[in-house]
Amino acid sequence: MVIIMLKVLLVYFSGTGVTRYFASLIRDEMEKRGYRCDSLNLEEYLDLPTLWQKKPVALNYTIRAEVKRPLGKYPWPYQDLDTALKTAAENPVIANLQQDWAGYDLIGFGSPVYSFRPAPVMIRFLLDLPVFKKKIRAFSFATHDGAQGDFEDFMKNILSRKGFKFVGHLDQSFIYSASAIIRKSFDHLKTGRLLVRKSYQARRNIFIFLEYIHSLFYGIPYWYKGTNLFDKLLGMPYRFLYSFGVDFLLNNLLFGYGIHKDECIQCMTCVQQCPQGLIELDDEDYPIRHYHCMYCLRCLNWCPTNALYFSNLTKDKARFPGPEVLLEAAMQDSLDDRLRDG
Ligand SMILES: Cc1cc2nc3c(=O)[nH]c(=O)nc-3n(C[C@H](O)[C@H](O)[C@H](O)COP(=O)(O)O)c2cc1C
Ligand code: SF4
Ligand code: SF4
Repeated sequence: MVIIMLKVLLVYFSGTGVTRYFASLIRDEMEKRGYRCDSLNLEEYLDLPTLWQKKPVALNYTIRAEVKRPLGKYPWPYQDLDTALKTAAENPVIANLQQDWAGYDLIGFGSPVYSFRPAPVMIRFLLDLPVFKKKIRAFSFATHDGAQGDFEDFMKNILSRKGFKFVGHLDQSFIYSASAIIRKSFDHLKTGRLLVRKSYQARRNIFIFLEYIHSLFYGIPYWYKGTNLFDKLLGMPYRFLYSFGVDFLLNNLLFGYGIHKDECIQCMTCVQQCPQGLIELDDEDYPIRHYHCMYCLRCLNWCPTNALYFSNLTKDKARFPGPEVLLEAAMQDSLDDRLRDG
């Protein structure tokens, strides 16, 4: 029997690091099978501010915010997907990907779930792709907090329109990075242990998914039911309510952009990192944030001095430290245990 070594590419975006971590688990499992697996972190590959401030494809609640309070100062309106698909023009910066990716057998596209959909930066990137003539097999992958809604259908729709052959979806709920901003304190160790448990679960799901992928290429029948059944059962009413609930919570309870001016070193990192271009400088050159924030937490996570918070309700509360830090805390703990036990 001839064993063909699959060449796989993982293209991903990660706001706070969880999807990046999931991509690394997928790569590990693929390499164990002898596949060659390359990764492309959009953040390292592209000048993100240029990509995502171009014509943002917005989340449901930012579209509603736009209706309530238009961003008069900015030259672009938000777009919904249908409009964006109709008006999408090829981006010359990534036009060469059609050739660069021609050698891959399989490409995975991964993103966090934001408001039941892929993150706007992933959507924008996919919209900007040329239409591929060679039908490369593609799958989507996501990390989320338990409700991924339309993510898979959304990715299937865009990827198919871009000429890929969509073959499946892989996802994992890990840890509640989005809720970190409203917790009183963030227990690194507790969350680190949870991450270790979830990682085992993730590896099992990845294994099942790769059995299915293997069957696609090597012709062994395998029935893959996906891990998205719970979401499918929840249905539209739940999504609708959740989406408006998020809108209410974010815009009424967390609304605001607080800054400890004495801690801000005016480095502009937050301005540079905001995926929606929503942070401006005030008259004294301190950052101020627009109403349409999608709470991706990047400005908080990137601020070197921890000077930012969302509102009085979230002031002095935790921010998400990212999986690498959490795993380190959990590993240090088990090391301490072992040292104690001699
Ligand atoms: C703006 C925003 C919207 C989110 N919407 C959802 C959602 O609809 N469903 C869900 O399960 N998780 C949601 N989450 C949680 C993220 O999907 C989750 O924390 C993810 O693992 C983050 O991945 P990252 O670290 O790669 O950015 C949301 C998070 C943010 C910041
Ligand atoms: S202001 Fe901060 S949290 Fe809001 S969209 Fe921009 S980077 Fe994300
Ligand atoms: S990233 Fe932090 S320190 Fe830098 S300008 Fe923004 S708030 Fe100030």
